[in-house]
Amino acid sequence: MIHNRSQEAFEKAQKFIPGGVNSPVRAFRSVERSYPIFIKKAKGNRLWDEDGNEYMDYLGSWGPMILGHNNERVLAAVKECLEDGSSFGLPTSMEVELAELIVNSVPSIEMVRLTTSGTEATMAAVRVARAYTKKNKILKFEGCYHGHSDSLLVKAGSGLLTEGYQDSNGITAGVTSDTLTLPFGDLDKVRELVAADKEIACIIVEPVPANMGLMKTAKEYLQGLREICDSEGIVLIFDEVISGFRLALGGAQEYYGIEADITTLGKIIGGGYPVGAFGGKREIMEMIAPLGDVYHAGTLSGNPISVRAGYETLTMLRDNPSIYTELEEKVDYLTGEIEKAAAEEGVDLVINKLGSLYTIYFTAAEKIENLEDVMATDTSKYITFFNTMLEEGIIVSPSKFEAHIMSIAHTKEDLERTIAAARKAFKVIAEQG
Ligand SMILES: Cc1ncc(COP(=O)(O)O)c(C=O)c1O
Repeated sequence: MIHNRSQEAFEKAQKFIPGGVNSPVRAFRSVERSYPIFIKKAKGNRLWDEDGNEYMDYLGSWGPMILGHNNERVLAAVKECLEDGSSFGLPTSMEVELAELIVNSVPSIEMVRLTTSGTEATMAAVRVARAYTKKNKILKFEGCYHGHSDSLLVKAGSGLLTEGYQDSNGITAGVTSDTLTLPFGDLDKVRELVAADKEIACIIVEPVPANMGLMKTAKEYLQGLREICDSEGIVLIFDEVISGFRLALGGAQEYYGIEADITTLGKIIGGGYPVGAFGGKREIMEMIAPLGDVYHAGTLSGNPISVRAGYETLTMLRDNPSIYTELEEKVDYLTGEIEKAAAEEGVDLVINKLGSLYTIYFTAAEKIENLEDVMATDTSKYITFFNTMLEEGIIVSPSKFEAHIMSIAHTKEDLERTIAAARKAFKVIAEQG
């Protein structure tokens, strides 16, 4: 494949943008490429780069594109909206419609605030949890990523893991000392910690972690966290920026039947446009300004374009519940065939999957359950996998620490092509030994 234009674009980009990209994983450094592909346009599950190469897409813009890129209904609604103006700094009726749709879809959300990103949503959720409990500390889990606000960039997943560290420079010791961390999945450790430290305001967790690769959460674990929070007066925050409206309309909490006190959302609820949201119990949410003294605001919060794109997306998901079973069936078929192909080519791997998400780990281990397990998986085999898939015109996550994402636009033929390409990659991996 020829990538001259991408290469040129990256050379220029590095002069003006740190690392040439506006979000680190996009640089493709972790998959040992000297430049990323620069995308020109997308439709359905296809991307086209600046050189005109076509790719099948398993990134889905890191989550929002459950309906595929530029879904006709979303696009038509956005075009209509653009004619009326892009931001007013004053409320619109459509914001209320989207809020109602979210409240009706996620059982634990009684009131919701819109933001412009997932990062803002989690940052505000922590703030209101602290105000509500009058306590300062937060507990998060190693390898979970909750955006890039200071207090949540401790033992974080996603791009930090990809870049080879977990704590960002530039954050004061005072901030990080209020953020406690534990390995994901160990309830006893949580019980010990909350028994010893009565200053914990909230536990924030990705109910289905997808930023250290995908983890399959046991229902008992989430149930246990719920019970601990109830008995200790701790606010339970489910960060459903990825899992919200993806595992089910009501997110992981509907999937597992466990409710959070505060939920954070993003990605899908903006239909591919900038968005985030946090919502929860009325008595917590009523602490936010102008009703209360917990400040949250945003020039573009609830901007009409994102709101309309999100409204159309969520309405389509609500009106077509079979989408979720279809996505799960596609992932089951694809991952089952990939496992078979790997076994036939003599390549050891473990695939974690849930709903429309999955991660392929190259390892001889039997299962992958937490960050420590992921760290021990083979990075060089993953790099070979990524690069072979790319040459075959299929773009998968440029990091072993992320999930692969299915959309409704992937057809049976697409899955067959993906399986054949994966088999090729496994042959190369087997040859490399
Ligand atoms: C679980 C989770 N929370 C929060 C965020 C931050 O969202 P954003 O990138 O929109 O700021 C992300 C981003 O990937 C995420 O995966």
